[in-house]
Amino acid sequence: MRRPILARLALASAALATVAWAGPAAAQDYQARSWAASCFACHGTEGRSEGEFPALAGKSKKDLLAALQEFKAGTRKSATIMHQHAKGYTDQQLERIATYFSQQSRR
Ligand code: HEC
Repeated sequence: MRRPILARLALASAALATVAWAGPAAAQDYQARSWAASCFACHGTEGRSEGEFPALAGKSKKDLLAALQEFKAGTRKSATIMHQHAKGYTDQQLERIATYFSQQSRR
C-alpha cells in the first residue's frame, strides 16, 4: 500500500524528532567536557591521572563537588593552583564538571 506523500513526510519527521529528542538526553554534556578539558593537563585526559596529580575520573560527584566548592570558598587549602582555578567557574559549572568526571571510567 502506498501512503500519500504528506503522510510519509509526517512519519519521517516524527521519526527524526524522536531521534533528536533521544540524542541530547542520552549524550554526554559536551559543554561540561570542554570546561573539563582545562583540567586534563594536570589531572590526565578524562581525569585519568597516572602521575602525581589526583585522578578525578570515577570519583563520586559529591566528593568532587565538595572539593571544588571548598577550593572556591578558600576553606580547603590548595598547595598549588586549585583555589584559583575553582574561582573561575560558577557553582552550576562546577556541578556539571563534577558530574562529568564522576561519569568517566577510571581506566
Ligand atoms: C595546574 C594544574 C591543575 C589544573 C589545571 C587543575 N588542577 Fe585540580 N588539582 C591540582 C593539584 C596539584 C591538586 C592537589 C591539591 C593541591 O595541591 O592544589 C588538585 C586537586 C583537585 C581536586 C581534589 C582531588 C582530591 O582527591 O582531593 C579536585 C576535585 C580537582 N583538583 C579538580 C580540578 C578540576 C575540576 C579542574 C579543572 C576545572 C582542575 N582540578 C584543574 C592541579 C590542577
